[in-house]
Parts: sequence; structure tokens; C-alpha cells
Amino acid sequence: MTKPIGVVGAGMMGSEIALIFAVAGHSVLLTDQSRAAADAAIVRLETVLDRGIGRGFFSEADKGRALGNLRAVDSLDDFADRQVVVEAVFEDQSVKQAVFRQLDTILPADAIIASNTSTIPISTLASVVSAERQSRFLGTHYFSPVHRMKLVEVIPTFDTAEEVVDEVMDLCRNAGKEPIRVKDVPGFAVNRVLHAFLIEAVKLVEEGVATPEDIDKACRLGLGHPVGPFDLMDVVTNSLSLQAQEIMHDAYGERFRPGSLLKQKVAAGHIGRKSGRGWKVYPPKG
Ligand SMILES: NC(=O)c1ccc[n+]([C@@H]2O[C@H](COP(=O)([O-])OP(=O)(O)OC[C@H]3O[C@@H](n4cnc5c(N)ncnc54)[C@H](O)[C@@H]3O)[C@@H](O)[C@H]2O)c1
Repeated sequence: MTKPIGVVGAGMMGSEIALIFAVAGHSVLLTDQSRAAADAAIVRLETVLDRGIGRGFFSEADKGRALGNLRAVDSLDDFADRQVVVEAVFEDQSVKQAVFRQLDTILPADAIIASNTSTIPISTLASVVSAERQSRFLGTHYFSPVHRMKLVEVIPTFDTAEEVVDEVMDLCRNAGKEPIRVKDVPGFAVNRVLHAFLIEAVKLVEEGVATPEDIDKACRLGLGHPVGPFDLMDVVTNSLSLQAQEIMHDAYGERFRPGSLLKQKVAAGHIGRKSGRGWKVYPPKG
């Protein structure tokens, strides 16, 4: 069954989360800090669809359905009829909680709120909504690029109703995703595994054992990874990786201490593809 869905935050993650639900046949409203940003995201998604058609991820019919189902709106005030809202704004607790407070007053009483946070405990985010809404609040952690990565970590809090977990898992499956249920712990499951690996990769570079290029090659050709750790950090952004590692360092101690080279890269503004320079250098597009 299709549901009216809303997505807040039309950046890298939110726009593609909106896309996969629109392709799956749901009506999707997309909003950002300004209408212009939400409109620009829809233009970007047309490129994602066109490239995806070329690579076999989408069909022409998917494109038509997606563009028919997807609409940019001015603000959260347009979300009064939404049954499920996915939040993908900046990774900042106060920014996210301000959005949740607003959504709690605008959405129907039985609407579900799902956060795409990578690092903030879901129960902390849920604490600012009403007790009734807390039973309809959970985490859904998608992976980039969302139209290609099938996994979604579904993270209930102490108070999330079982029927809400089931409903969200079904919604994800219906959009072609493979959800797994994960406890609300710092880093959830995937980031615990990933950052242990990324921290070790940075240590290898700090110790001069191999270059980022060669470690990427080693992981692709020796471990069968589709992308190496340094290319991955440059896509995800070094600042987000550092933030995740600091949170897990607080939670789990030494084993998640971020490498000093990663800190230095972030302080220098070398955050990755977004800034044109991270572990590698990216010439401006065209
Ligand atoms: N980048 C990744 O690989 C990745 C993976 C999983 C989860 N996440 C999480 O997804 C979320 C979004 O990440 P992203 O990489 O898409 O970031 P992004 O910076 O590309 O996008 C965030 C968007 O949110 C908008 N925004 C900020 N405050 C807002 C507000 N108050 N109301 C409406 N829109 C607002 C911004 O204008 C921006 O367009 C973060 O919580 C991040 O941790 C990211």
C-alpha cells in the first residue's frame, strides 16, 4: 500500500531517500531550508535517474513514476497529511531536535518519524517529541548512494511500538531495500565495523606503511571491496567520519580513538569530494 511520505533535508541522503520511495510509487514531498534548495535537489535527481537508466539501476518507467510522485515544497507546514516522515538534515542534535519538535505539532497523531542520523542515539532524538509520538519514532539508517545500497539499519528505541518497526521494515522492503533490526547503540552495527576498519587504514598511512592510493587498491583487489577506505571517506566526508569516531571513542574508549591525521585533514578543510580535496584531489567539474 502506498503512503504519503515526507523527507526533510534535500542533501545527498535525503534527496535519494525521497527518490527511492517515489520510484516505489509513494507520493513524496521534499523540503529543505529553502524552496530553492529542494527544487535544486529534484533537478539533481533527474541526473541520478538518467545516469541510473544508463547503468541499469532504473528504467524509463521508474523515471516517469519518480518525477510524477516527487514534489518540492516550501516548508514543514506542507507535511500535515504525511504518514511517514524521514529526517535527513545536518548531523547536529539541536538542528534535528528543532525539526522533530515542529513535525510533532504538524503531523497526524499516528504518523511515523524516522531519523537517518548516523551517530546520534535515536532515543536522545526522540526525547523531544510527545510520549505518544515516541512510540512512532525510530531510526532508519540508509547508506550512500541510497539508490544503489540495499541496506537499511532499522533502529527502534525503548519506546518504539513493534507494529511501527514492522511497518517501516515493510516500507523499506517495498522500496527494494534489505532492512536489518539493530539496537540503539552508538554507531549502530555498520558504523562500528566500518570505523574500526577506517581507523586502522588511517594508522597505516600515519605509519608510512602504504599510501592511501595503495591501501584503496589493496582493499579492492585483495579483499573484494567495491571501494577503498580512503575513497569511501572522501565520499562520506572526513568531517562526518571524525564525528562518528569521536562519538564511538566516548562510548567505547581507545579502540575508536580517531587518527590524528584524520583530525588534521578536517581542520585543514580537506573534507573530501565536497571540498575538492580530501585524501585525494578532485578537479572542479566541468
Ligand atoms: N553522507 C552519508 O554517507 C550518510 C550516510 C548515512 C546517514 N547520513 C546522515 O544523513 C543526514 C544527512 O546527511 P547528508 O550527507 O545528506 O548531508 P547534506 O549536508 O548533504 O544534507 C543535509 C541537508 O539538510 C538541509 N537542512 C539543514 N537543516 C535543515 C532544516 N532545519 N530544515 C530543513 N533542511 C535542513 C541542508 O540544507 C542540506 O541540504 C545526516 O544526519 C547524516 O549523518 C549520512
